[in-house]
Amino acid sequence: MTNLQSDHLQKRIFSGIQPTGNLHLGNYLGAIKNWVNLQNDIYSIFSIVDLHAITVPQEPSKLKSSTHEVAAAIIASGIDTDKSILFNQSSVKEHAELAWIFNCVCRIGWLNRMTQFKEKAGKNRENATVGLYGYPVLMAADILLYKSTHVPVGDDQKQHIELARDIASSFNNMFTSDEEDDFFDLPEPQIIGEATRVMSLRDGTKKMSKSDASDASRINLTDTAEEISNKIKKAKTDPHPLPDNIEELKERPEAHNLMSIYSSLSDQTLEKALIEFSGKGFSYFKPRLIDLAIETLSPISREMRSLLKYRNEIDKILKNGEQKAKEIAEPVLKDVKNLVGFVN
Ligand code: TYM
Repeated sequence: MTNLQSDHLQKRIFSGIQPTGNLHLGNYLGAIKNWVNLQNDIYSIFSIVDLHAITVPQEPSKLKSSTHEVAAAIIASGIDTDKSILFNQSSVKEHAELAWIFNCVCRIGWLNRMTQFKEKAGKNRENATVGLYGYPVLMAADILLYKSTHVPVGDDQKQHIELARDIASSFNNMFTSDEEDDFFDLPEPQIIGEATRVMSLRDGTKKMSKSDASDASRINLTDTAEEISNKIKKAKTDPHPLPDNIEELKERPEAHNLMSIYSSLSDQTLEKALIEFSGKGFSYFKPRLIDLAIETLSPISREMRSLLKYRNEIDKILKNGEQKAKEIAEPVLKDVKNLVGFVN
């Protein structure tokens, strides 16, 4: 078997998170919690995607401290940096280089379909940066630079991973002569668990997001027990008791959201969690959700605070991750450049 063939059989995870503002419960349940479980079975690479962060204006000094905070949150949640790679994206220049090559593979029509760009650019589309428009191309480069096969993310990233598959497939068609020589495997999204799309606590039809103006809409990983408790107490609900079936629950966005959060935090299916609460009102359910959220998140925020006292240590961890990431990325980019026909 050639090296390339054996490389195709190897499973490898890549996922990323932006260093912008506070990480919230959606980031934790939709992504980081799954990363922690998966790292034991599949070789994993996690990146703090600072090149993606600058697609919208950033304050340079805040970007640096957000990068530290996100690294601390990932480690405090249980990512073992002896086992998995953790680094910041801009430190491995191959991401930007591969993104350029993919810019010449990806079609404008494909990017025009991206719903996240439409949401983020809003009405002021003409004023959005070219970087924001090309954001999913860089994401494809992140994933494929490591020939990753699995991409654990929240539901909102699914369309971007489908684009990465289109880019991989198109690259294979353009630069390899038959299927057996395909250079890239098509990466699979892994959208796992009961909280793949955590919604705002103030409006169950809107995604929980870092950019929501209302801090009460989200639970931040840095929130105190008191803040978590107050936010859940004030979370929007409806006047009915909890139902005994998922179909009915799904028609009640706020109830569905809070129950999904509960089942994900307690590692059980939504069906099972419903058995515990069907027929009960929110005055019974909310205190139990509060206890569970505090029990899960408090140790993480405590550990984060303690890690953040030693930012030099975080820098060392990221540097080490950078070196390990480069060992994989450099030869892959070299092969890509050969296939494209560059003299290198
Ligand atoms: P970002 O930083 O917006 O979010 C990081 C991860 O958190 C998930 N997430 C959610 N999951 C459930 N409910 C929510 N409300 C919620 N909000 C966020 C996201 O799905 C994501 O998994 N483009 C990516 C970062 C990225 C990336 C990559 C991911 C860059 N390159 C390559 C995977 C592979 C982003 O902006 O995530």
